[in-house]
Amino acid sequence: MSHAVHGEIDLEVVRELVSHLTFSDHQEAQELILAALQEINEHFGWVSPEAAEIVADHLGTTVNRIYGLLTFYADFRTEPRGKHFMLLCHGMSCYVLGSQNLVQDLQDRYGIADGQTTADGELTVQVVNGCLGVCDRAPIVKLDDDFHGNLTPDSLNDAIQRAIAARRANGSPPHGNSSVRAG
Ligand code: FES
Repeated sequence: MSHAVHGEIDLEVVRELVSHLTFSDHQEAQELILAALQEINEHFGWVSPEAAEIVADHLGTTVNRIYGLLTFYADFRTEPRGKHFMLLCHGMSCYVLGSQNLVQDLQDRYGIADGQTTADGELTVQVVNGCLGVCDRAPIVKLDDDFHGNLTPDSLNDAIQRAIAARRANGSPPHGNSSVRAG
């Protein structure tokens, strides 16, 4: 079973994505590299070495150059996401109402900081410095597809534990189907 959900990257899908990128010369190909990486990152939540190689082959560049881009831009991930993915808002309202306590608690309780995944592969957190648009419920996180607001470290922990338990109970994927934008 290969699907986007547990971090595996279906290389057939990657080939399909890059096959839509057409160009008439080397320069044009170079200009498509970022778009290709963005599509893969959005679709799978990360870019694997194998996916990077496919992009490099198709667009006539090196894997080293691809990795340079992947590490330069903060939005790219080079490791798979956990089974659950959480955005933790660190915008102004959330910050004022204690998002730093949530960040600290994740570090203490789960051993994860921004961009990291728990050792058991359950949870990845990404701290977002911009506002997620629901300040009236600050501090908030978006866990998989759901917003949780007015959080304390304990209520955040409850939400995480509920999400993990629910997924185990019904065995269904937690992520919404993050769609791939047509090129
Ligand atoms: S600052 Fe967090 S939702 Fe607006």
